[in-house]
Amino acid sequence: MPAKRKSIHGEWSSRLAFILAATGSAVGLGNIWRFPYVAGENGGGAFVLVYLLCVASVGIPVMMAEVMLGRRGRQSPVNTMSTLAEEERSSTHWQYLGLMGMVAGFLILSFYSVVAGWTMAYVFRVASGVFDGATAEQVSGAFTVFVSDPERLLGWHTIFMIMTIIVVSRGVKSGLEQAVRFLMPTLFVLLVAMVGYAISTGHFSEALAYLFRPDFSRLTGESILAALGQAFFSLSLGMGAIMIYGSYLSHTASIPRTAVIIAAMDTSVALLAGLAIFPIVFANGLEPELGSGMVFKVLPIAFGQMPGGTLFGTLFFLLLVFAAWTSAISLLEPMVTWLVENRGMNRVMAAAWSGLAAWSVGVISLLSLNVWSGYTLFGKSFIELVEFIATNVMLPMGGLLVAVFAAWVMSRESSQDELHLSGSTYRMWRVLARYVAPVAVAVILLTATGIL
Ligand code: PFF
Repeated sequence: MPAKRKSIHGEWSSRLAFILAATGSAVGLGNIWRFPYVAGENGGGAFVLVYLLCVASVGIPVMMAEVMLGRRGRQSPVNTMSTLAEEERSSTHWQYLGLMGMVAGFLILSFYSVVAGWTMAYVFRVASGVFDGATAEQVSGAFTVFVSDPERLLGWHTIFMIMTIIVVSRGVKSGLEQAVRFLMPTLFVLLVAMVGYAISTGHFSEALAYLFRPDFSRLTGESILAALGQAFFSLSLGMGAIMIYGSYLSHTASIPRTAVIIAAMDTSVALLAGLAIFPIVFANGLEPELGSGMVFKVLPIAFGQMPGGTLFGTLFFLLLVFAAWTSAISLLEPMVTWLVENRGMNRVMAAAWSGLAAWSVGVISLLSLNVWSGYTLFGKSFIELVEFIATNVMLPMGGLLVAVFAAWVMSRESSQDELHLSGSTYRMWRVLARYVAPVAVAVILLTATGIL
């Protein structure tokens, strides 16, 4: 058995710190911005059901595998993969898995920062009271006007990326714990209050039926892939974010329990967001297919109508910015650790260069919303294409390979030793990671691409 490694980038102060950081990574725009709009585009109930199945049968075992690999390798995902592969006498080509993850994280960060910018802008918009008493049409119109102004989007995108670079360059461990410890529960409470308001619209049961009564006729290969991709995106899996966070985790913490807690928290936030948004959609006679502007077109209607809505809405978007921030830093971290390890850069330079590169790709995404909206490929604009490829192709492929490595390449002794598991729980993980997760991901990918 090789000696336990130490990470040159430090370690979390406790298991709780890791849970907070990983939850900070998982809970973000994916839950509140992306989940409701993708559910709406894919017909609701059946999508939600497949999503939940994906989280349980693919997401949790892959998360355990990722944390385990991270903790055993204790380096950037690229170097962790090559070290572990060598240790297991396998090919060092496995490092390309780390590399693909890094590219996926880079691409996601590029558009994530643009959308986080929208959220920042909406903190001020809601605070200014412009939505007071506004109709659904006015709120939708305001969003359309907003995204058609590249200069504004550029300003917010730039500010958000700088915020991300600053935190990562100081080391993700300082401050993150405190921020997540207080802000996440507050966001949770606000969401619950929002669901309370949504109930008062009188359209709650319609939303419940929409989200939880599966209409299987709406299920297509593509919508199943969308559910799988959303599960990976929301849980921050398949790109090394959870792997790098796992590399700062102490040897004594229990990985399985931790993974279940994180997945449960992440999923409840997504479902709450759905329950908060859809009643307002139906109460205002809107269609669920509102696209990526959904939260911005729907929630402000409620903030404009409810008592104290300006304050409440401002706080809501502010917390969403924080949630996005704690996710964005985990998107940048794998790349930064790799630059530090392999290029001898210091953390500040590494964060600045990789952030700048992601910012530049983000600018193309941002322009594709307005001035370049005419250019499309396969019917998708640049931002939609990047979102699709990174989320629905790269993350599931990364997750599949992580599961294959952890359950097929790694010896039983190594994984058992790292997971601290034995007996039936270990066997269950191994069956899920060996067969269920890889087969499910492969079948879904092949079906959606029309190969199967
Ligand atoms: N999980 C984050 C969210 O739901 O907003 C986004 C994300 C973070 C995706 C980190 C992937 C990742 F590695």
